[in-house]
Amino acid sequence: MKQPKGAKAYPELTAAAAHWRYTPPADALTGRNLVVTGAGDGIGAVAAKTFASFGANVILVGRTREKLEAVFDWIEANTDTQAVIVPCDLEHLGEDALTALHDAVSDTYGQLHGLLHNASRLGPRVPLAHYATDEWMRVMQTNVNAPFLLTKTLFDLLDKPSHSCIINTASGVGRQARAYWGAYAVSKFATEGFSALLADETEHAGRIKVYSVNPGGTRTRMRNAAYPNEDPATVPAAEAHMDLYLYLMQGPTGDITLPPTGSQLEARNWQGP
Ligand SMILES: NC(=O)c1ccc[n+]([C@@H]2O[C@H](COP(=O)([O-])OP(=O)(O)OC[C@H]3O[C@@H](n4cnc5c(N)ncnc54)[C@H](OP(=O)(O)O)[C@@H]3O)[C@@H](O)[C@H]2O)c1
Repeated sequence: MKQPKGAKAYPELTAAAAHWRYTPPADALTGRNLVVTGAGDGIGAVAAKTFASFGANVILVGRTREKLEAVFDWIEANTDTQAVIVPCDLEHLGEDALTALHDAVSDTYGQLHGLLHNASRLGPRVPLAHYATDEWMRVMQTNVNAPFLLTKTLFDLLDKPSHSCIINTASGVGRQARAYWGAYAVSKFATEGFSALLADETEHAGRIKVYSVNPGGTRTRMRNAAYPNEDPATVPAAEAHMDLYLYLMQGPTGDITLPPTGSQLEARNWQGP
């Protein structure tokens, strides 16, 4: 595989790429502008660095400025792409913040080729009868309402290029209910509904493809919070899934045929194109 510029400084990605089911060209995302939410940590930080390594300009949306700055600094040092940081708490997305985000993206990039809704709140795992109402609201705000607000706000920029992609991050507990996963599970069922509805609405025009991707168990802080007794070494690193994310985000170029819009995908079981 021809190494993308950032790959030398990213040994975990290079190691994972040896087992990828799809090998993108080094410039697969060159010239593409992609928003990643939750870009400071976990799967979002890995996706942001990976996308930039393959040439994308990444808009890093997240809650903790220092974490976003660390990802931004890595991208600056290791790629030729133009990243930007947008610190924002998705629990408190007001009109002013949304307008500022839209205008910043529009002024800097003019159009968007991708939006990865990745940030999520896990919340407690307790029976519904004992679920704290304020926690329910916080999880639904972060996992359901924020992706709706961001999609609505950025829609005109995503609708400009001939091909763009929205990835909604799913979960196994949002496809098959599991007791005690509370608002997180319900929010992920809503994610599937949002994804299917948006795919149906945009299919005719054919410019925006919409997917729901379940990363499956992945070695992150959230996974550790959900399964504190698990040995993290037994769970794949996020870099292992990045072939699927790159494949979807690069658009239908060359001989690339993408899955039908609205597809539900499983990163861990994906067999490649
Ligand atoms: N890891 C797994 O095994 C697994 C399995 C299935 C699905 N998923 C899904 O994959 C996605 C990524 O999960 P992960 O494991 O990478 O989680 P993670 O390590 O906890 O990272 C989540 C990211 O979301 C950000 N975030 C949370 N609440 C936010 C808010 N209110 N405003 C802005 N940013 C916020 C966090 O910011 P801070 O760092 O500032 O807190 C963090 O950067 C989630 O949608 C999750 O549901 C994960």
